[in-house]
Amino acid sequence: MVNDSSERTIEVHARHKSSGRSLIAEEKRLINCSTVDVNQLMPIKYHWAWEHYQNGCANHWMPSEVPMGKDIETWRTGSLTDDEKLVILRNLGFFSTAESLVGNNLVLAIFRHVTNPECRQYLLRQAFEEAIHTHTFLYIVESLGLDDREVFNMYREIPSIARKDAFEMQLTTGLLDPNFTTETAEGAQKFLENLIGYYLIMEGIFFYTGFVMILSFHRQNRMTGIGEQFQYILRDETIHLNFGIDLINGVRAENPGIWTADFQERVIKLVREAVELEVAYAWDCLPRGIVGLNGELFRDYVQHIADRRLERIGLPTQYGSANPFPWMSETMDLGKEKNFFETRVTEYQSAASLAWD
Ligand SMILES: [Fe+2]
Ligand SMILES: [Fe+2]
Repeated sequence: MVNDSSERTIEVHARHKSSGRSLIAEEKRLINCSTVDVNQLMPIKYHWAWEHYQNGCANHWMPSEVPMGKDIETWRTGSLTDDEKLVILRNLGFFSTAESLVGNNLVLAIFRHVTNPECRQYLLRQAFEEAIHTHTFLYIVESLGLDDREVFNMYREIPSIARKDAFEMQLTTGLLDPNFTTETAEGAQKFLENLIGYYLIMEGIFFYTGFVMILSFHRQNRMTGIGEQFQYILRDETIHLNFGIDLINGVRAENPGIWTADFQERVIKLVREAVELEVAYAWDCLPRGIVGLNGELFRDYVQHIADRRLERIGLPTQYGSANPFPWMSETMDLGKEKNFFETRVTEYQSAASLAWD
């Protein structure tokens, strides 16, 4: 006896042959789609995925194009305090491996279970961007003459970084089991939890503390090479986050049965746990505070950001904290200005693709 899925495949192919390709687009699903050929990009159903892909391509940049001469001078001539150096080092330590964690999770855990070619096209682009981001930290470490083993091993040695990464890695582990499937409600929830853990929490919350810390130096016209690279990373990560939210909301819409009250509680708990880890990390970067930044302000900021992320996946806000760094949105808005990009990277850029979300 032919099972349901085979019958459906035959039916879809028959319709495809007789009535054109539009029917295949209708059959596309973000996960658990066994009836549409995942090798055929066209016709596109999820136009948001293709738009994110195009925006990502339009933003192409390479770290080696950013001059580091001024940063090297600032770092070596002792014009930074020990506390300021600590902030920068802890950020390099976190990001240098966090980018790899995101890339590995993308390729090893997410890609396999997304059964849609336009989303996979975006995931391939994103994976390359994560490689560029990891490359950026290598470039910074080499430029400043830092101990690469110390920076790249912080995720094992600095407890506040190790805890954030362990939180993420345990979300990957379950999906690496060869028997893992998204075809059960439990499996689909686990997959959604991974998407939320990486897109919403890692890239949408954990990264933002670092963006504020490094960009606050850039605002003071110090460490502008690193600052400029963080601006490019922030721009890329904004698209990663937006794609992730579209994917999360798309999976939710197509599988309403998995978005139970219990599961929503589980997600809120996960976000609240992440906020505590992030606040602890901020204190660890800023034990005494530096000009304009301290742990207390970061508690408000992380809570503010977490609320914004929860809203975007239809969950209630938890904190109601104000944004203590309103200049961050100004910094992001600057992306619309032509002169924002100081190096020849502008050659890659078309004006239309500079808009921030
Ligand atoms: Fe990244
Ligand atoms: Fe990313």
